[in-house]
Amino acid sequence: MRVKKAVIPAAGFGTRMLPITKAQPKEMVPVVHKPVIQYVVEEAYHSGIKDILIITGKGKRAIEDHFDRTDVNKHNKYLDELDRILNEVNIFFVRQREIRGLGNAVSYAESFVDDEPFALLLGDTITLPPCTKELIDVYNKYKTSVVAVEEVPREKVSLYGIVSCKEIENRIYIVDDLVEKPSVEETPSNLAILGRYILTPEIFDCIRETKPGKGDEVQLTDAMKILNTRERIHAYLFKGRRYDIGNKIDWLKANIELALEDDEVGKEVKEFIRGLEFD
Ligand code: UTP
Repeated sequence: MRVKKAVIPAAGFGTRMLPITKAQPKEMVPVVHKPVIQYVVEEAYHSGIKDILIITGKGKRAIEDHFDRTDVNKHNKYLDELDRILNEVNIFFVRQREIRGLGNAVSYAESFVDDEPFALLLGDTITLPPCTKELIDVYNKYKTSVVAVEEVPREKVSLYGIVSCKEIENRIYIVDDLVEKPSVEETPSNLAILGRYILTPEIFDCIRETKPGKGDEVQLTDAMKILNTRERIHAYLFKGRRYDIGNKIDWLKANIELALEDDEVGKEVKEFIRGLEFD
């Protein structure tokens, strides 16, 4: 079966980005010309996906407004690009009734996904080039769930879900286990889950069986741990760039790097940065 659907969770609090996220969703925070979630929708589209479900929640209405058709008098090239995509995709919305973790957010996608494998893209994370496209290639070869990972410095493992795995071919691994935020002493590896997945629909039963942890939150990593006891999961080492916009430093780096590469503003930003004096 082909991967034809994408799910984008975007209901989380965005506590780490406060006060920026006090009155606006973190997925609407701008990176150069566009809000983060537009990059994520574009990634799904450029990965060949036409049906997209965005999971929203309290205070997230701006996300739905963003994907409405634009007023004809207000066009520019970025809006035109978005409208072109909107003509070709179907975007659906569902509200996570209470914010109870990523696993709980994903459970709201069950009837949309039906009985098909689907791509899961965190709504606050940008990957360049589109990681989802690469994950779909791995899925097409192995027909299992696939989780994208990246190498992180060992002292930072406790910020991530970590996988322990065996390499079977260049950058592709069989997952032995998954651990949410391990300590530096106990971590099985430095391969961190980066926010892009292909999941089989069996994940929904596993989410139902997952016990909530801290703050009554249901962790997706814990549900995947159960999934891994029932069917094989592969990990894929992504070598591109990933920005977690829920973290202020990553958000600033994304703005600087993408602005420097941009056709419209790049030259001026480069000159500006060159002219700055550093200690
Ligand atoms: P995070 O793990 O960054 O959590 O979510 P958060 O609550 O949004 O942010 P902080 O920790 O308070 O700063 C990763 C992605 O999963 C979504 C978020 O919107 C984000 O896109 N998410 C998270 C949900 O949709 N629902 C949840 O219950 C939790």
